This record gives sequence, structure tokens and C-alpha cells, in this order.
Amino acid sequence: MTIQRCDELRLTGSGGANRVMEAELKRLVMRSPFDVRLGKPTREGEETLLYPFDPRVAWVAACHHRTASRVSWDLWSSPAVRLEPLFADLVPALSSDDRLPGGTSLRFSVEVGSSSDFESSPLQLRGVVKNALVDALASRGIASDVDADAPDVVFVVRRAGTPEARRTVVGIDVGGGARHKRGARVAAGLAPLRETLAAQLIMLSRWDARTEPLVDPMAGSATIPIEAAGLAVGAAIRRPAELSLHHLAAFTGLPQETPDLFPGTVARIVALDADATMIPTMVGNLRAAGLTGAAYEEAIVVGQQDVRTLTPDHIERLLPATRGMQPGVFCFNPPYGVRIGGEGGEAELLDLYADMGDALRNFPGWRAACFVAHPDFAYAFGHHATLTKPGSNANLRGHFLVFQL
Ligand SMILES: C[S@@+](CC[C@H](N)C(=O)[O-])C[C@H]1O[C@@H](n2cnc3c(N)ncnc32)[C@H](O)[C@@H]1O
Repeated sequence: MTIQRCDELRLTGSGGANRVMEAELKRLVMRSPFDVRLGKPTREGEETLLYPFDPRVAWVAACHHRTASRVSWDLWSSPAVRLEPLFADLVPALSSDDRLPGGTSLRFSVEVGSSSDFESSPLQLRGVVKNALVDALASRGIASDVDADAPDVVFVVRRAGTPEARRTVVGIDVGGGARHKRGARVAAGLAPLRETLAAQLIMLSRWDARTEPLVDPMAGSATIPIEAAGLAVGAAIRRPAELSLHHLAAFTGLPQETPDLFPGTVARIVALDADATMIPTMVGNLRAAGLTGAAYEEAIVVGQQDVRTLTPDHIERLLPATRGMQPGVFCFNPPYGVRIGGEGGEAELLDLYADMGDALRNFPGWRAACFVAHPDFAYAFGHHATLTKPGSNANLRGHFLVFQL
């Protein structure tokens, strides 16, 4: 076994995100400016998809994909689990690799993904990949500078593959780093949901933005409503200029602009929270995401409301445009005790879930989708879950649940 050239687009998500990531990319590519057919990806475990590398598909994923945590371009994979053999493998491979950036100088950095079965520390692994890159670039006449703060290109190294065929994979991060960082949130509530997870939750709810309103009755900092608005129109979360794409010949000639892929969709979204102090936070975040002003007055509204007393009338009064629409979708992540103690503790939390389940009986035909870490949520909520799927928010493990109300 030796080093192998790869040429794959790698989408990495949170545990179990494969299906949703695949469905999202398919939807985006279909509406992209490119006439390209997306093949079936290879799945690596539960959270990674690999597609044959096509710069147009990579462009769509890098700019628009919301459920992937990282988007990278795999270049080489080595069986090495130790530093010296990895260095010996990488230098000649990278020296003759014309996919690397050209020019006379390059600032780059190296990030380390999962590397627990590599025999040296992540820091040492990063160091050896940096050294291999410096040597390889020098052999091509490129002076390089390691610059973690303002790199032109970010390389990634990780252990990957199936359990029986693990490899050390070196590639280029084309997706602008950790993608749950959208750059728009100005303030967070106590327990914000990661944006990638919020997008996954909305995809799992099967919300149809053209015909159904979406209500987050416990919106906190409005992560879910903001993601919903972006998903509805296919808004980009990264611009090519912020990515390293212009340093890479493969992306030459691809667009610099990223107009919405589903322009004209007017989603109807309601963001509510019982806590009055969350209202300015929500408004600030909506504004930072460009979702305020006259164009959104009839589309996205914010309100203070206790979910336990919520009725369809409240929704219609807040957002009259929802009148006459199909039954809608609730998307939320309730307080779950681990992060938000709840002054009355466990019993109060279970009462809240039960009261919420009762209130949502006023919404027959609607669906409710939530991400929750509390094991007894579904029981207390009192509705039958049509989908249960494990997930994790940062290090907190929980479940996505979807209910038909
Ligand atoms: C886990 S946080 C939601 C986080 C949110 N998804 C975000 O990303 O910022 C739960 C939210 O539920 C709200 N909440 C608690 N009890 C509520 C109730 N009875 N009615 C409405 N909202 C409530 C809290 O104020 C808090 O903002």
C-alpha cells in the first residue's frame, strides 16, 4: 500500500447527517447555474459523503450548502500512521501536483480533522504536513509562509476511510472552515443551536416554504428562523471571494457572484419566545442576516409569546399572510435541562413539554420538528413521533424528532 492520488469532494456533517446532506446538495445543484449531473456519492460512515471532484459541484457546495460542517477537496491519501513515512509519501506527491496553487508565493495553514488513530499528536501531524507542503511548494518555485490568521489556502489533514481501510487524507478546505459559523449572528441566547443543525432540522421537517408557514415557538436567538429564510431562497452562506477558490486553477472562470438559487420564494416565518430579553437579540440577528426591512415585513415576524398559550389566531394576527396557507411546521429546540437548568428543575421542564404538547393540539395537520437532548421529551410532549434520529449539538447528544400533530 502506498500513497494514492484522490480527487473527491468531501462533505462532512454531524453524526447521521448523510441523507440530509445528500438531499440538500441535489436540490442545490439542480438549481445552480451549471448544467451538471450529480452522481450518487460514496458514503463514509454516517457523516461523510464523497463525490467525484467537479469544480462546479464544489462551488455550489462551498457557497450554498448549509447542512455540511466542512467541505473539502481530497488530494492524497496515505496509509502512513507515523510522521516520517507520511512526510516521505507527501513531498514527491505534492511536488508534482498541479492542483496546488501556482504563482510565486503562498500563505497557507493546515487544519487537523479527526486523527485519533494517527500515532503522533494532532500538533505533530499538522507540523509534518506543513513541512511537506513548504518543501513541495519550494520545489515548484513557490515561496510559502505558514499563516494561520490570513491564509490564502487552508489545507486539511485527517484520518478517514472505512474501519478496515483507514488512511491519512490530505486535501484543501474549499468551504471556508467550520460552516456552522455563518458570520451573521451578533448575539446568542443561552443555548444556541448550531446553524448546521438548525438547517438539518428544517430539512428533516420537510417544510415546503411555498405553501407552509414555519413557526419557531422558542426561537432564542432566531437561529432556526434565519436558517429557514436562507434555505427557502437558496441563499449563499459563503462568497467565492472569501473562499480560497481564486487561488486554485480548477475554479478559474466560475462565478464570483452568488444570487439566490430559488429567487422569488416568499417564506412565511414566525419567531417567538416567552423571554422578552430575547426579542432584541432576535431582531439584531435577523438584521445582521439581512432579513429585516420592508421586504420582510410580511414574511418574517418576531413576537413575545408563551408557547403554552399559543393558538392559530396568534400566528394569523402576527403574520396575516399565513391565512389560507397549508397547515404549517413548528421547528424548535426546547430547553433541555443540561444547559438551561430551569428554576423549577426537572419536573418543571417535563410540565413545560406536556403543556406545549397540549397547546399544539390546537394545530391539527401541522408538523412539529425539534432537536432535543432530554430523553423524556417525546413521552411528555404526548404526540407520536414519525421520525427519531440521533444527532449532536456541539458535544451535547440528543435526537431530532418529527411529529404529525
Ligand atoms: C434551547 S433555547 C432555544 C435556542 C434557539 N434555538 C437558538 O438557537 O438560539 C430554548 C428557548 O426556549 C425559550 N422558552 C422557554 N420556555 C418557553 C415558553 N414557555 N414559551 C416560549 N419560549 C420558551 C427560552 O427563552 C429559550 O430562548
